[in-house]
Amino acid sequence: MDVREALRALEDATRRGLDEVLAATSLEDVERAEKSALGRKGPVAEVQRMLGTLPEDDRRTLGRAVNEAFETLRTAAAERSASLRGDVERGIVERDRVDVTLPGRRPARGTLHPMTQTERHVLDALFGLGYRLMDAPEIDSDWYVFESLNIPPDHPARTMQDTLYPVTPGRPDLVLRTHTSNVQVRAMEALEPPIYVVTLGRCFRRDVPDSTHSPVFDQAEILAVDEGLSLADMRGTLEAFARAVFGPEQRIRLRPGYFPFVEPGAEVDVSCFVCGGTGCGVCEEGWIEILGAGMVHPRVLRAGGVDPERYTGFAAGLGMDRVAMLRHAIPDIRLLYEGDLRMLHQFARSA
Ligand code: FA5
Repeated sequence: MDVREALRALEDATRRGLDEVLAATSLEDVERAEKSALGRKGPVAEVQRMLGTLPEDDRRTLGRAVNEAFETLRTAAAERSASLRGDVERGIVERDRVDVTLPGRRPARGTLHPMTQTERHVLDALFGLGYRLMDAPEIDSDWYVFESLNIPPDHPARTMQDTLYPVTPGRPDLVLRTHTSNVQVRAMEALEPPIYVVTLGRCFRRDVPDSTHSPVFDQAEILAVDEGLSLADMRGTLEAFARAVFGPEQRIRLRPGYFPFVEPGAEVDVSCFVCGGTGCGVCEEGWIEILGAGMVHPRVLRAGGVDPERYTGFAAGLGMDRVAMLRHAIPDIRLLYEGDLRMLHQFARSA
């Protein structure tokens, strides 16, 4: 083999070696290709062995070509190995990948309690009739809760509403109000007639809890004081109110009822919205009692500083829990106070 043939053999060996290295699909393949091109029995080594037999010039030329062949193949082998190692690592990463993405945490959306929905509905109906909201204290004096309402201490009507008393040193006259009627004289003291107010809030009675009674419950109170108000105005107002709260088909019925602070007094029923008035398990012969009402007693008007010769008035007290229970077909009043989300989510809509 002369120098020219040796150079061509080197070129061929380098090209073959490069092809093999680039075609390698594993680190072992690369090593094998590199060894077969550059190993002691390989083509490059064979040319290298000739060097000692050549004249000076040829030896230098061929020596440089041998070095370049070594350099080219080693670099190619190193690059291919690095690339395969990268592939392997990427494969491991891909194989071992664990998706730890979690669904985003949605903040729990609050909804209105069925009592709040009912309260808003009731207030809406009364604001529509021209009433304004007025607050009255939950802990109030015996005067506003009883005496000013024509219920003196020895009056048998006190036993109708078993009272709870807070222990307040120096204020033995304080009681937890048993009804929202304590707003009546307060409203007359604070405002000049014509007075059209509504109050909403907690009441407390020493009642044993059962499906329709709770020691803490809610009432709404309506009070109107004006010139020339009659029982017909009261009836019309309560009918408009019942239709707004329970639906446009509702009728109301007034039965005689006794409350010391009204004269005459009435128990007010609405026609049953379940059966439409024919009679069912929810109502009594087609009617459901929802409130007490009556024309404000002259003594109460006088207690509020209002002249009963000039003004008349009517008042009504509504059990809000009962209204919420009827509107939503809730069978037990205690469900309204337990805060059980399984129950409350059933009413997850706004007012
Ligand atoms: C009164 O409280 C009168 N103040 C209502 C009134 C106002 C009459 C103005 C005339 C003029 P009564 O004691 O009936 O009335 O209570 C009214 C409503 O409150 C009842 O119909 C009932 O719905 C509700 N209520 C009374 N006690 C409880 C209780 N323990 N738990 C739940 N609701 C109750």
